[in-house]
Formats: sequence, structure tokens, C-alpha cells
Amino acid sequence: MPRVRVHQHVNPLSPYYRQSPEPIDIEAVFADPERPLLLDIGCARGRFLLRMAEAEPGWNYLGVEIREPLVEEANRLGAEAGLTNLHYAFCNAMLWLDKLLEGIPTGLLQAVTIQFPDPWFKKKHAKRRMVNQEMVNTIAKQLAPTGHVFVQTDIEFLADEMFALFRADDRFHESPTNANPFPVKTEREKAVEDKDLPVYRSTWHRNPES
Ligand SMILES: C[S@@+](CC[C@H](N)C(=O)[O-])C[C@H]1O[C@@H](n2cnc3c(N)ncnc32)[C@H](O)[C@@H]1O
Repeated sequence: MPRVRVHQHVNPLSPYYRQSPEPIDIEAVFADPERPLLLDIGCARGRFLLRMAEAEPGWNYLGVEIREPLVEEANRLGAEAGLTNLHYAFCNAMLWLDKLLEGIPTGLLQAVTIQFPDPWFKKKHAKRRMVNQEMVNTIAKQLAPTGHVFVQTDIEFLADEMFALFRADDRFHESPTNANPFPVKTEREKAVEDKDLPVYRSTWHRNPES
């Protein structure tokens, strides 16, 4: 079946993407809602999570993506694969991650991945970048005490910007990371590695006492 065609970028500050999502009802979307949860923010077509859900079925996987047709396609492919531990949500994560996650029981969110988010290169578009202070606050609030956040990108200035937000937050401590710790690579990661370009990676752990 052909892949659904979508715009390469959407403006997250335009009125359509300012609409608030419904909070995720994990009882409704996962067969076993008590499993540890991995959240992938900016999941695009969701193939990373699809493969993870097959490779490590003891977890639940939630993908968040702003391009709605990709979310519909990813949920259809997950259902066709018979995966009941996988769900994708349409959400503008730079504005609404907090609202989307507000119903998730404490302690369930064990891992967060942010992989190759769009850089929005121009200075005048910097406000459209996905990872911001609100997102870091939401992750710190929701992440289980034993949880971690893995971030990777091929754009050095974006790595510096994202890493600085996590480094400045004393609710996290950093483990420098050379390789993707997961058994699956994202589509963007494969494309970057095929061109032999550098990837900037790091991992943050929640400080249990904070
Ligand atoms: C360069 S792609 C990388 C996709 C995937 N993580 C990978 O590594 O292959 C970045 C993705 O983040 C999504 N994205 C950008 N801003 C977003 C936002 N505010 N909320 C949710 N998703 C967003 C884009 O639509 C796009 O699918």
C-alpha cells in the first residue's frame, strides 16, 4: 500500500494546531495499561515504535505526532499488525504534551525519546521548535523516578539547545550516550547514518529525590 502523502512541515503556532487534545485514556488504548510506558515525541510515521512494540512486547508505546494523517496511518498499521501495546496520538507536543499526558497514572512513564526533531533553522522560526521549557517541565512531572529521557539529533545547534534545557534542570542528571540504546533505529537515524553524518546523543535520568 502506498505511503500517505503529507506536508513536510506544519506550523505548530497556526490556529488549527493550537486546539487542545483530549487526555490519553490508557485503559482504552492499551490491552494491558499497567505495563511500563515509552513515549516517543515527534514520531512521524511511527515505525520506530512499531518495531519496538514487536521487539520488546513487555512495554506499552505511545507516539505523539503533529501531522494528523501520519497518526491515522500509524494507528492503522499497528492495528493491522495486531499490536495492542501501541498507540499514536495527534498532538502539538510543544503546546499540549501536559494536557495529553495528564491522566497517566504516576510511575507508568518509564522512558521518553525525542529523536531528530525538526530544527526550524531560521531564527525567526525558533519559536516553532518542539522542545521547549514547558515540554521539559511536563516530562519531569510525569517521568517515573526510575525513568529516563533519550535525545538524539544530527543538528549540532539543536542538540546544544535541547541539551541545555535538560542540563539546567536539577530534576535530571545526564549520562552521555554514544549509541542509540534501543534495538531499533528511527527512519531519520538510518538516513543520517547512511550518509556517515554525526549524531549528537544524550540521556537524562530522573533524580528520584527531586
Ligand atoms: C525530522 S522528523 C523525525 C521523525 C522521527 N522521530 C525519526 O527520527 O525518524 C520530526 C517529526 O517531529 C514532528 N513534530 C514537529 N513538531 C512537532 C510538534 N510540535 N508536536 C508533535 N510532533 C512534532 C514532525 O511532524 C516530524 O514528523
